[in-house]
Amino acid sequence: MAVSVPLFPNITFDPQTGAILGAGVVENERRMGQLAPIFRDRAAARALPPDRLVYRFHCWFPVAENTPGGLFWGSTRIEPGMAGDEYFMTRGHFHARRHCGEFYFTVAGSGALVLMDEDRNTRYEPMSPQSIHYVPGGVAHRVANTGTEPLIFLACWPSEAGHDYESIEARGFSARMRQVDGRPTLVGEEPR
Ligand code: F6R
Ligand code: ZN
Repeated sequence: MAVSVPLFPNITFDPQTGAILGAGVVENERRMGQLAPIFRDRAAARALPPDRLVYRFHCWFPVAENTPGGLFWGSTRIEPGMAGDEYFMTRGHFHARRHCGEFYFTVAGSGALVLMDEDRNTRYEPMSPQSIHYVPGGVAHRVANTGTEPLIFLACWPSEAGHDYESIEARGFSARMRQVDGRPTLVGEEPR
């Protein structure tokens, strides 16, 4: 039986802006107005302009979501900035299908990939240009920009992965990237 091979011409990545360009690429952005609740110091986050851009990401879905064996490609650009002593960061998520992993590749800037397993054990990997990171299945992931320039990274994940943001909204991560004595430090959450 003949298999039709779809062609995806002219999908490109702009390393200066962090954008993926081409037909069907979806762009999302997250501004402080909606992100303030994820920060530890919510008052400091709410004191920032609600339209302040925290991050923008582009996703290329060459196949439909949930296609077995398919892959998605994305780029994320996190602006430098802080809410209180906490670095600007992504919302973070588990993959809905817990067994699905993901690759990250850092293009520019410096940051921290914060990883938390289902037992809430948290660690981080420093991100710097050309660093490659593997997020294992069952591990929640969030990225903080710990530098003074935009942090730009690429991602590749299975089309079956899906995203579970709700678990993170409910309980957060067990540790946060905060500036301590001028340095990025993973600090465990104390009960509030
Ligand atoms: C996809 C993935 C990244 C993030 C992006 C934005 O599985 O991990 O493409 O989606 O960095 O972060 P979130 O999705 O946490 O807002
Ligand atoms: Zn992911």
